[in-house]
Amino acid sequence: MTAERRPLIAGNWKMNGLRAAKSELRTVAAGLAGLSAETMICPPFTLIGAFAADVAGTQLMIGGQDCHPAESGAHTGDISAEMLRDAGAVAVILGHSERRIDHQEGDAIVKAKVKAAWRAGLLPVVCVGETLVERDAGEAAAVVTRQVRQSVPDGATAVNLVVAYEPIWAIGTGRTPTTDDVAEVHGAIRHILGERFGAEANGIRILYGGSVKPDNAAALLATADVDGALVGGASLKAADFLAIARAVG
Ligand code: PGA
Repeated sequence: MTAERRPLIAGNWKMNGLRAAKSELRTVAAGLAGLSAETMICPPFTLIGAFAADVAGTQLMIGGQDCHPAESGAHTGDISAEMLRDAGAVAVILGHSERRIDHQEGDAIVKAKVKAAWRAGLLPVVCVGETLVERDAGEAAAVVTRQVRQSVPDGATAVNLVVAYEPIWAIGTGRTPTTDDVAEVHGAIRHILGERFGAEANGIRILYGGSVKPDNAAALLATADVDGALVGGASLKAADFLAIARAVG
C-alpha cells in the first residue's frame, strides 16, 4: 500500500442478514475509532436504508451488491444505482463472480453498470477473478487483465473506481493464493489500469477478496499492490471484520 491509496476494507454480506443483524452492524461501527482503513458493509438491498441511517455520522459506509444499468423502468425485481444512492448507499459491488455465474453477467453488462454507478454518484467496486481451470493453465493474469479491459469503462480515476481481485476458487473455500500469486495478479491489474488511465492508476485501489480471515489478513494486506480487502463470510461477524480492519498496517 502506498500513502496515496487509503486502504479499504469492504464486507460483502451476500444474501445474508435480517433486520436483527443491526446489532452486528452497530458493533462494527463502534469498533472503528482510530483505524486507518476506510470501511464499508454491503448488506442485502432490504437492509441498506436502515443500515445507512444507523451508521450516519460514523466512519462506516454502506454499499450495495449490484445495480441495474438503467435509472428506472420496467425491470421487475431490479434496483437502480439511483435507488441505492437514495437509500443511503455510497458504493456498489459490480461484476461479482456470483453475479457473473448465477445471472450470466458478462463484461459488457458490468461495464454498463459501472456507468450507472457513476451516473448516480456511487463508487463502483468492480470484481474480477479467474477460475481454477484458468489458474492451473497459467492464465490468471491474462483473464483478469481482459476482464478489467472489458468491464471498466473509459473515464476511470483514482476516486471513481475500486477494483477487487477475487479468484473464484478462493471464494468461500478457505483457500487463498500465495502472496506472490496475489502480487502478480494485482501487478497485472495495475499495469492495465496504467495503460488505460495513466497516472490515475497509481491511485486506484485494488482489493483482494476470497477467504480473507483474521489470521491471513495481515499477510494479504501487506502484499504489493493490495490496497484492502473484500470480505465475504468473515464480514458477517463483527469481531472478525474488525480484526481484519485492524490488520491494515
Ligand atoms: P469469502 O467471499 O470471503 O467468503 O471468500 C469473498 C467474496 O465473495 O467477496
